[in-house]
Amino acid sequence: MLSRRHVLAVLAAAPLAPALSGCAASNLPDPIAAWRTPGAGETDPRRFALAHAILAPNPHNRQPWLIELVGDSEFIFRADLERLLPATDPFNRQIVLGCGAFLEVFDLAARANGYRAEITLWPEGEPQPLLDARPIAHVRLTPEALVKDPLFDHILARRTNREAYQDRAIPDDALEAMRAAAGDAVSFNTSTSGALREDLRRLAWDAFEAEILTPAAYQESVDLMRIGAADIARHRDGLVLDGPMIEFARATGLLNNEIMADVNNPMVKQGYEAYRPLALNAPAFAWITTTDNTRATQIVAGRAYARMNLAAAGAGIGMHPWSQSLQEYPEMADLMVEAESLMNAPGDARVQMFVRVGYARQVGPSPRRGLAEHIAA
Ligand SMILES: Cc1cc2nc3c(=O)[nH]c(=O)nc-3n(C[C@H](O)[C@H](O)[C@H](O)COP(=O)(O)O)c2cc1C
Repeated sequence: MLSRRHVLAVLAAAPLAPALSGCAASNLPDPIAAWRTPGAGETDPRRFALAHAILAPNPHNRQPWLIELVGDSEFIFRADLERLLPATDPFNRQIVLGCGAFLEVFDLAARANGYRAEITLWPEGEPQPLLDARPIAHVRLTPEALVKDPLFDHILARRTNREAYQDRAIPDDALEAMRAAAGDAVSFNTSTSGALREDLRRLAWDAFEAEILTPAAYQESVDLMRIGAADIARHRDGLVLDGPMIEFARATGLLNNEIMADVNNPMVKQGYEAYRPLALNAPAFAWITTTDNTRATQIVAGRAYARMNLAAAGAGIGMHPWSQSLQEYPEMADLMVEAESLMNAPGDARVQMFVRVGYARQVGPSPRRGLAEHIAA
């Protein structure tokens, strides 16, 4: 029998939201089925590309993507307003980035399948300051023999990797590949040594801790924690806690969402403290900035992020966003000012993504709800 101390030690070693290594709970859907041969057997090119698009990175794995198919070759893309993150993303900026990532992966898959995706953004205007029912995009596919973008080949290998990263330098050509993938519409920057990296390490941790100590922000994450295989399979979204020790702790009542909500619980404290060395030993950071923060720009930034994450996957390099210091709620205001100063985003410019980069153990894919959940009947 494992001792309580042993369980605590293992939980402490497991970051709050490790990527899913694959689990099957009887009579429940397979949470990683969407990653197996996406689009296989689909004759509708929209469905083929959409089956890839749902594998895009997105905040808290909310997967807030709604599709209304129109005619034979078009669809309307909307955000699912039931799947926003009001506490940590009060102006829906990150949700829109995740929608941009979705469109990028869609475009890569359509192109690889011999179709041009004509994407008209915000056809009824940009919703501000909050998203509403208006469409994010109208999309039309037309057959055309286009050159496949090599990033398409990394869609199934792309991950958010929250493991500890090795103390190993990232070759310049790998950073260049990420910069090239992000493209010219955003500014891509890195810090791999020196005083700036030290400041960014501290910023990443301070903001992470500030978020945990902000009740509404932390509770939003707790509500989205899926604890153990059955919970994960039921929801197939959110922040995943899995593995044998988690199952054990859940089964014995040591761990549940209520317990996770208590930041003074020693086990919870140990769990989040496991993130401290991840920030403070980060071998490198990368970030993207934009010159403004319109909805169209947020889509551009999300597309750029998907591409740099895919390029990192292609180079065998892990990537892990630390978005806390970029979040627009009052308790984060001072750290956000610091983030924008350290990462040089003056005036209307915005840091859109801030990520840790490095070599790490491979992790499995995170859950997906499956294509049928996104397409209006
Ligand atoms: C805009 C945005 C912000 C994100 N912020 C964080 C973050 O702060 N911490 C984190 O661990 N992951 C973050 N992620 C990664 C998502 O949690 C991840 O994409 C999602 O859980 C799905 O997992 P996958 O990328 O492995 O498919 C972010 C992703 C996006 C697109």
